[in-house]
Amino acid sequence: MDDIRKKLELLDMSRLPRHVAIIMDGNGRWARQRLMERSDGHVEGVNSVNRITRITSDLGIRYLTLYAFSTENWNRPRPEVDTLMHLIGETILKETPDLLANNVKINLLGEIERLPEEVRKNLEYGRRETEHCTGLELQICLSYSSRWELTRAARELAVKAAAGEISPDEIDETLFAGSLATASMPDPDLLIRTGGEQRVSNFLLWQIAYSELYFTPILWPDFDEAAFIDALVDFQQRERRFGKTSDQVNSII
Ligand code: IPE
Ligand code: IPE
Ligand code: MG
Repeated sequence: MDDIRKKLELLDMSRLPRHVAIIMDGNGRWARQRLMERSDGHVEGVNSVNRITRITSDLGIRYLTLYAFSTENWNRPRPEVDTLMHLIGETILKETPDLLANNVKINLLGEIERLPEEVRKNLEYGRRETEHCTGLELQICLSYSSRWELTRAARELAVKAAAGEISPDEIDETLFAGSLATASMPDPDLLIRTGGEQRVSNFLLWQIAYSELYFTPILWPDFDEAAFIDALVDFQQRERRFGKTSDQVNSII
């Protein structure tokens, strides 16, 4: 706790990211290192989800988007997929009262209809219970892939254009972004990937155009508050230029 308090002093609370997105990777390797089953790594990973959600909410960060299960993850061995699905359903049921107490609103991103009915029921319960919450918005990405999201948006706009509801000329960046699952939120300022891989794995490809990327070798079950604050401190040392020059962004004019 002292360690965390000291680290918090390094943070500029007036320059926190508004939106943090995380690729939570490394559960399987965490378990392997301990000669445990991969599923044990996923179980342990839930504790990281809880503590990172908590500290994000406590810090007053507005949006947290977690990559929990990708479209490609359906190709994993059936027993692992089943375990993950079961765990997701159980966790949402168990954690909803706490999230509610902390004013956290749950949003679901992805092809939720592909999930087993039992899991969908629990997810829907969590979403509905927290719908009115005004604190942290927690996006859980399930059966999500960015290419799925982008092609769905393109299809929706094509249907509207074909029906004469919009003209193709009206399709600009704003309209397109408004057709994505993330329409109601700002793009992530910071994208964190744990587990050591330096890739994006089909996550928020449109939205991370100008996000700061932070890769850490720490495996997700070991990712704690201190590691999260390290990422935020690192973020605050970056200069976000959005295509401009350093002089321009530092100018007070
Ligand atoms: C991330 O951990 C969790 C999911 C993808 C669901 P992994 O299961 O990918 O763990 P590693 O990368 O194999 O260690
Ligand atoms: C990315 O992790 C997806 C999630 C964290 C849900 P993966 O472990 O599936 O990614 P790859 O296969 O190593 O790129
Ligand atoms: Mg992985």
